[in-house]
Amino acid sequence: MKNNKFTVGVLTSGGDAPGMNAAIRAVVRTALANNMNVIGVKHGYEGLIKGDFDDLDARSVGGILQRGGTILLTSRSKEFMESAGQREAIRKMNEAGMDALVVIGGEGSMNGANALSKQGIKVIGLPGSIDNDIWGTNLAIGTDTAMNTIMEAVDKLRDTASSHQRAFLIETMGRNSGYLAVMTGIACGAEMVLIPEVPCTAEEVVTAVENAYKRGKTHAIIINAEGSALRTTDIAAKIDEKDVGFSTRMTILGHIQRGGSPSAYDRLLASRMGVKAVEALVEGIHGVMTGLKGKGIDFIPLADVISNKRKINMEYYHMAKVLAR
Ligand code: F6P
Repeated sequence: MKNNKFTVGVLTSGGDAPGMNAAIRAVVRTALANNMNVIGVKHGYEGLIKGDFDDLDARSVGGILQRGGTILLTSRSKEFMESAGQREAIRKMNEAGMDALVVIGGEGSMNGANALSKQGIKVIGLPGSIDNDIWGTNLAIGTDTAMNTIMEAVDKLRDTASSHQRAFLIETMGRNSGYLAVMTGIACGAEMVLIPEVPCTAEEVVTAVENAYKRGKTHAIIINAEGSALRTTDIAAKIDEKDVGFSTRMTILGHIQRGGSPSAYDRLLASRMGVKAVEALVEGIHGVMTGLKGKGIDFIPLADVISNKRKINMEYYHMAKVLAR
């Protein structure tokens, strides 16, 4: 305990997500307002193991609210998944006088947070992932911005698709979850959405494209989630203009979806969750993740977060289909 003050560490882990900086800022400034010290941990759990720490004050987090990425840097640490790595991390935390840790990240990061919590460390998790695949929160930090990035890209692609009467295969991120694909499919009026949760064949895609042409559409937009059963390149190879009417192009959006300035929604969500995380510690609550429930932020036990799998709301998948007529 530095200067007899309660000391909280903060780290970001896993894939970065827009709004992580807003969350760091909220944690730091709320902690300072509650007379705590704050230590920034670099490179996620890797930095926790190595003791790669920096003291943070109010100015350290100035000018970052609107920036994508994470000023603390991030990583996916294999070493931390082993108990030896976790023991070393706890040793480094104790050496630095860290009384609690705030972990901002995705599913894997919440797993790590729970592992520390089980070993007696006071931990609070904040869900940060563009995929929105974390159980216990309606929305994770970064998802809204990613959806807006995808929407802007698809709108632009539709302009050129319509002008040339083409089918466009557009691949979104989402290793295990079709959330981004389904929601942007609705928001962008896609003719078809392919997601990991629903099996699909290339023949079904060819038929959907052909039907869109026959219905007099000027384009066909197919959104394929990265984790779906079909590779975008494989589908493209199966679509022949002679059969379906449209010529075909494909665009893999890739990591552009993870970058960029966070939306107003993500800045607010991240700020609210950052504030709540420190408030939890003040109240003696830990071993939980902040989760958006209805309009409020709840505390969800980390053990529940990691033992449940978030499922996609199939209502939205069917809605995307109905609206594609
Ligand atoms: O952060 C989640 C995610 O963006 C997934 O959708 C994607 O599969 C993965 O990260 C990519 O990870 P990396 O940046 O390590 O290639």
